[in-house]
Amino acid sequence: MTTLTSRLERARERLAGHGQDHVLHHAASLDPVRLDHLLDQVDALSLEQVDALAAALDDDGGFVLPADLAPATIVRRSPLDAQWTAHGEALVRAGKVACFMVAGGQGTRLGWDAPKGTFPATPITQAPLFQVFAEQILAARQRFGAMIRWYIMTSPMNDAPTREFFASHDHFGLGADTVMFFPQGTLPSLTLDGKLLLAETDEIAVNPDGHGGSLRALRHSGALDDMRAHGIEHISYFQVDNPLVHAVDPRFVGVHAAHPDSSGEMTSKMVAKRDAAEKVGVFCTSGGRTMVVEYSDLPAALAAERDGSGRLRFDAGSIAIHMLSREFVERLTAHGLALPLHKARKKVPFVNDDGVRVEPTSPNAIKMETFVFDAIPMARASLVLETDRAEEFAPIKNADGDDSPATSIAAQSARAARWLEAAGWAIPRSAEGAPDCTIELSPLAASCEAACARLAARAIERGARLAITPG
Ligand code: UD1
Repeated sequence: MTTLTSRLERARERLAGHGQDHVLHHAASLDPVRLDHLLDQVDALSLEQVDALAAALDDDGGFVLPADLAPATIVRRSPLDAQWTAHGEALVRAGKVACFMVAGGQGTRLGWDAPKGTFPATPITQAPLFQVFAEQILAARQRFGAMIRWYIMTSPMNDAPTREFFASHDHFGLGADTVMFFPQGTLPSLTLDGKLLLAETDEIAVNPDGHGGSLRALRHSGALDDMRAHGIEHISYFQVDNPLVHAVDPRFVGVHAAHPDSSGEMTSKMVAKRDAAEKVGVFCTSGGRTMVVEYSDLPAALAAERDGSGRLRFDAGSIAIHMLSREFVERLTAHGLALPLHKARKKVPFVNDDGVRVEPTSPNAIKMETFVFDAIPMARASLVLETDRAEEFAPIKNADGDDSPATSIAAQSARAARWLEAAGWAIPRSAEGAPDCTIELSPLAASCEAACARLAARAIERGARLAITPG
C-alpha cells in the first residue's frame, strides 16, 4: 500500500507540473487494483508529448496548402510493364517481399463492432475480409513457390479479437508462424483546451495513433527485425477495407524496386478520381517531392479544377496501396519519427468529476493521428503508378451508399465476370452489358486476370470456390 501511496504522490506531482492532475480526481475512491491500473497509464504517459499535443491545438492553421502545389507525375501503363513484372516476380520468388495490412481502424462508419477484417465481404459465400487477403497470399505463395509472410497491424482495442479470429480459423491455412500481429500505438485524446480526459474513473481516454503509427509499430513490435531475419526487403502495404487489392503485385514490386526514377523507398498506386468530391487523398507534388493531400485538406475549388481536356487536374486518387522498402522504414524510425499530426474534433464520452459518464452531443475533444502517406515526401523520390479502379479498388467503408458492402460486392462480381470471360467462360450479360449474374471467384481459383486463364480450370477441379448464380 505504501508503494501505491508513494506512486500516487509522485504521479500527482508529475501531472500537476503539466496542469493534468485532474486525472487523479477519483484516485481516492479506487480500489488498489484499479488505482494500480490508472498509475500504470500515468507512468507510461509522456507528459512532454501531451504538452506538445496541447500546443498543436493552438496552431489552428492545420494543413497549409503549398503555394507550388501541382498534380503529381504518374507512371502510366506502358509496353515496358513486362520488364517490371519480370523483375518484381523475381523478387517475390526470392522471398524478398512481405505483405503488411493495417487493420487498426474502428469501423465506426460501417457500424461493425468486431474487427473490420471479420466483416462478411464476398458476394455469395460471405467470406470475411481477412479470408480474402489470406487466400490471396496463399495463392501467391503457390504461384511463385515462395514464402510470403504477412504482418498485421491491429489496435490495442481490436488486437485480441483479431488474433482469436485467426486462431479459430486455423490462420486460413497460412501457418500461424508466418502471420505476425502487433498493435499500433495510441495518443491521448484532449479536450478543446488541451486537458486529458477520463474514459473511466481509472482509464485515460486515448485513440489509435493513425496508420502513420504503423511505421513506428513495425519497429517497436520487432516486425522489422523479423523481416530482416527472413531476408525481406520490400513491404506490400494495404488497408483492411479493400477486397480487390492485389496483395502481391509483381508489376508494382518491379516498378518500385527497379524503375530508374524510383528511389525504391516508397511507391504508391492511384486511380482516376470518380468525381471531384470523392473522399480519397490526391497525389500532388511540391518542392520536387511527391505528397498526398487528404480529401479534407484539398479546397473544393482546386478539387474541381479541370485541364484543357476536361479531366480533373488533381485526379490522382490514392487507394492507400504502397510499396515500402524495409530499409526506408528502418531509416525513418531509427531516431523517432515525427509525422505531422492531423486533428479531428470528435465526440468523446468521458467520466466527469462526479464520476458520471457523459455522452457528449457535440464535439468535446480533439483526436490526433498521423497518416502513413505523410512519409512519401521523406523518400528521396517516390513514384505513383496508375491502375484501374475496376481492377483494384472497391473498399467497404460505409454501411450504405458509396464504398459500401453493396458497391464492393458488385465490383467483385464484375471483376470476376471480366476475368472469367477473358479465360473463355460464358457470362450472362444484360442488354446494357452488365453481368446478369453474381459471381464469387476465390483468389485460390485465380487472383488476377492472367492467372485466371491458367489456373481457373485446375483450381476449380481441386475444389476452390467458384460459384455463379443467375440474377
Ligand atoms: C483513407 C485515406 C485516403 C484514401 C482512402 C482510400 C486516410 C486518412 N485517408 O481514407 O487518403 O484515399 O483511404 O481508401 O487514411 N487504420 C488503422 N489505424 C488507425 C486508423 C486507420 O489501422 O489508427 C486503418 C483502417 O483499419 C483502414 C485504413 O487505415 O484499413 C483507413 O482508415 P480510414 O480512417 O477508414 O481512412 P479513409 O477515410 O477511408
